[in-house]
Amino acid sequence: MTFDPAQIHLDPADSLPLYQQIERALAAAIESGDLPASTRLPATRPFAKQLGVNRVTVVTAYAELAAEGYIASHVGRGAFVLDRIARAETPLPPSLRQPGDWSAHNFNREMMRLAQRPDIISFAPGMPATDLLPADAYRLALNTVLRRDGPEILQYGLYEGYMPLQDAIVAELAGFGITTGRDRLFLTSGTEQGLALVMRTVLQAGDRVLVEQPTYMHALDLLSGSGIEAHSLPCDDHGPRVDLLAGLLAELRPRLLYLTPTFHNPTGVTMPLERRQYLLRLAAEHDLLLLEDDVYRHLWLDEPPSPPLRALDAADNVIYTNGYSKCLLPGARIGYVVAPARLRARLAAAHQTLDVTPGELHQRALHHYLQGAQFVEHLHRLRAAQKKRRDALIDALATYMPQDCTWSLPGGGLYLWLKLPEDGPSATSLYVHALELGVAFAPGHLFYLNQEPGASHSLRLNFVLHPPAVIADGIRRLGNAWKQAAGNRP
Ligand SMILES: Cc1ncc(COP(=O)(O)O)c(C=O)c1O
Repeated sequence: MTFDPAQIHLDPADSLPLYQQIERALAAAIESGDLPASTRLPATRPFAKQLGVNRVTVVTAYAELAAEGYIASHVGRGAFVLDRIARAETPLPPSLRQPGDWSAHNFNREMMRLAQRPDIISFAPGMPATDLLPADAYRLALNTVLRRDGPEILQYGLYEGYMPLQDAIVAELAGFGITTGRDRLFLTSGTEQGLALVMRTVLQAGDRVLVEQPTYMHALDLLSGSGIEAHSLPCDDHGPRVDLLAGLLAELRPRLLYLTPTFHNPTGVTMPLERRQYLLRLAAEHDLLLLEDDVYRHLWLDEPPSPPLRALDAADNVIYTNGYSKCLLPGARIGYVVAPARLRARLAAAHQTLDVTPGELHQRALHHYLQGAQFVEHLHRLRAAQKKRRDALIDALATYMPQDCTWSLPGGGLYLWLKLPEDGPSATSLYVHALELGVAFAPGHLFYLNQEPGASHSLRLNFVLHPPAVIADGIRRLGNAWKQAAGNRP
């Protein structure tokens, strides 16, 4: 290496943020050949020390370089300069069409990890609030089933799962308008395993899949490296743009569309009934499978949402996944898939060969918990608390953020989607200032398959994680971070 990164000259007085100064210096060295292909970049911690900057500044610089296709990271091995040809072929950010490299995501995970420091008010993670989980009632359920069933409960369970729990889920689904039997219900280790089971069973290399843009980032990870081509279906303030769908179906002939129609992650948007009906008609006409992820359904705040696609699906095209992670017990890892009749046998065969069924102890404890009135009471309390938190966030945004910011008004779920003014700092730039002032969020571009206008100036805030006073404090910090990042912007 003819170029020593430690020699980069940083100017704190420059209007360019420090992370961009680092990123530009490294990009220039890569362009000129001073940092040749395959060079390993210094590890972030010692490099930050050498440069006298915060580690997040270096992590952000690397994230930008990865998103621009200059470098790739490999977990445990570090970050490497890509060669020119690989660079030319790497879209922004790396696309699933060139599997194997998901470097922007690796860096971004690192950024999210840094946000877990105790002094930081984080709105970043995609999880429910720990203080609202029903620990006492669940302890009672665990003790009761352990006492009742003895050591048998600690054994391997049946691969189909615990039958009484399946029956309880079938009954709950009937309440959502979904008619199914145990034979079409597959218990999985969390909703994500359900998605993995479906993708693995239904799709093969060379297939095309549509995903909402933006979408749940781990769904992108599940497709990554599988040889499956992912394409994006743009969304607006009412969910996926079904008006664009007929054209995309004719052009791409995708096998499946993955979507979260209710309280979407990351935007919080719920798809109106008419769009659901139109989508189902198109799916039936084009023999398109819909993979409906309904994991936020229980968390409505103002009024119950429209029925799931699965409940409206006369043509039996919808594969339905849900679970108890967001409303009750993320750590118990209990989810499920409801299969269309034509996929039942294939899913059953795949389910049998994979160890995806949740642990017996949790299945039986959850079944016990679901029997009484306590689940309904828990949801009632949860909705009341989460509504207060959502409203506190909206109030705080109106108070502390610049007037030209806009945001979604989520009717449920966990997330609010904030759009920053396009002529101001990007979400990545804001992130650096935000961490320095003790607040964190999930930058919007993480949820995009391809860059598009708006991706760089959007961010996701989880509104349930903190009590209202802490939310207000966090957004006050975010407002200050924005002022810092925006500098002299009027
Ligand atoms: C849309 C969506 N699907 C699935 C999951 C994963 O759920 P689980 O914890 O049940 O695997 C998440 C979690 O963030 C999610 O947002």
